[in-house]
Amino acid sequence: MCGIIGYIGNNVEQKLLKGLEKLEYRGYDSAGLCVLRHGNFYVEKSKGSVEKLREKTCVKSEFGLGIAHTRWATHGKITIENAHPHFSSKGEVALVHNGIIENFEELKSALEEKGVYFYGETDSEVAAKLLSGRLSLKKIQNLVKKIKGTYAFAIISKKNNSIYFAKNKSPLYVAIGKDCSMIASDPSCFVGACDSFYPVDDGEYGKLDLKKVVFIDKHDKVVLKKSKKLDIDYFVDGKNGYEHFMLKEIYESKNVLGNIIQNYSSPLYKKLLEKVTEIDFNRVYFVGCGTAYHAGLIGQRYFMNNIKKDVFCERASEFSYQNRILDQKSLCVFISQSGETIDTIASLDYAKRCGAKIVSITNVSYSTIACKADINLPIFAGPEIAVASTKAFVGQCAVLFLLSKVLSGQNYIDDLVSLKEDLDFGDDEKLKRFAKKLASEDKVLFIGRGFDYITSLEASLKLKEISYINSIVEPSGELKHGPIALVEEGTILVVLATESELFIKTINNAYETKSRGAKLCLVTNQIVTETIQKEFDYVFKVKNTTSELMPVQTIVLLQKLAYYVAVTKKTNPDKPRNLAKSVTVE
Ligand code: F6R
Repeated sequence: MCGIIGYIGNNVEQKLLKGLEKLEYRGYDSAGLCVLRHGNFYVEKSKGSVEKLREKTCVKSEFGLGIAHTRWATHGKITIENAHPHFSSKGEVALVHNGIIENFEELKSALEEKGVYFYGETDSEVAAKLLSGRLSLKKIQNLVKKIKGTYAFAIISKKNNSIYFAKNKSPLYVAIGKDCSMIASDPSCFVGACDSFYPVDDGEYGKLDLKKVVFIDKHDKVVLKKSKKLDIDYFVDGKNGYEHFMLKEIYESKNVLGNIIQNYSSPLYKKLLEKVTEIDFNRVYFVGCGTAYHAGLIGQRYFMNNIKKDVFCERASEFSYQNRILDQKSLCVFISQSGETIDTIASLDYAKRCGAKIVSITNVSYSTIACKADINLPIFAGPEIAVASTKAFVGQCAVLFLLSKVLSGQNYIDDLVSLKEDLDFGDDEKLKRFAKKLASEDKVLFIGRGFDYITSLEASLKLKEISYINSIVEPSGELKHGPIALVEEGTILVVLATESELFIKTINNAYETKSRGAKLCLVTNQIVTETIQKEFDYVFKVKNTTSELMPVQTIVLLQKLAYYVAVTKKTNPDKPRNLAKSVTVE
């Protein structure tokens, strides 16, 4: 979380602001920039979005050098003092930071004892206070030796014309353009200015000048790196006429399925899937966070249905704290849209140390997780800008489906082709009517069995994260074991029932809440009799597809429902409160 950028070239303020706009998905609590011109700093900071910073910034079309930051608060409140850049005691060094300095309290106390004054509460300010005067690679080396934790730093001084940097476990990339140099948390910032980029590796630090960069590794040796081509097509952005990225991205699910079908039918990606079949394993772990974890639960079911092995699914934030069998015979599948989620990276490192084989399913091919995995299976979803993950979930489920089928020697692509053709986003007017009702509620309950339970988990997460409604999920059969106590007159119960063998059981569970005052909404692909129709206040029929792919068919409708609830409540679905897209702190 937090996004950093540095730029050397013409129109420096404009380039920094444009870069920050691209990085805003990483946090939008505050933003700030610092530009060095003629030996002086021009500094601007604002609370809230980059747009607010833009309003304040005096944009000059001149050559210059600068750094900027968009913040997702960890240490310290959302104030101007805590907004980056942070400054050394004499104000001649400015620094932006993404990550967490774990030993900051110890470092801060030692500095305070020496009489150093701190204007804010952040861990990042400590790093700035450890620097002074003219910067050098030696000073950066000393800085990183003192710091424990995660960081991507971009640092400038009034006395140098370079941007110094260092990286450990927070993403950082450098690019050299025709007439500029850039450094950023995400290569999307380089589009339009540079054709290629260099990933900075953990433990590396260095110095960026106009059209020149020096990388030093953790053993203090100069490293020569090969640049990677910037895939401009991947970064095509804009809302394409949609009011929000989220809605655009929900509709893009169809393209994601199309991309997966096309790519995984090609020899290159078929081979990649087949490579997984060559791994000798007797146990599988799916690991991810949030939506990616829910995709893992779907993957777990696919594997349980298709291959006869022990299959587990765990949240990355818990994975390395459990005692379990994890060895050379374990296959670990790490699922992450961004490929940068720190808990997932930590779990991957842990699994590697235990000797497990690592497969990743990511949307960003240059990401840390994709690069660390033995085999990376891309989901080809294109950039997902809205904080709430939508099309990536569809892509993750589709790739997991393919993987389970390949591992069980089955033909797999036709089912996905039918799903793509039939993908049904629901009746807008009907969805909006129900969304209006939900928008006035404080709480909502979701129930389902089997795959429907997992889809409910994901639908409920979407609803709570963008509309802030207290949304609870229970497997249908669990209601009577406690949660039914929550049902009172008017409580909304959303019932997912797409598996024919489980349909009547779930419907009966819904009736049990109806007799206690609940208002019922049914989402199903099954035949709805007149009796059922009468009992349910809202019914959404979804198109039928192979039962294993029903979660995808159902979720796109429920993603849209959550979207309409947020729009009705006038909460911003693209930038929900307290959240950031890329979670790079534990
Ligand atoms: C929810 C959401 C998050 C992410 C989670 C993992 O809509 O977006 O729950 O799924 O933070 O992120 P990735 O997939 O990037 O590892």
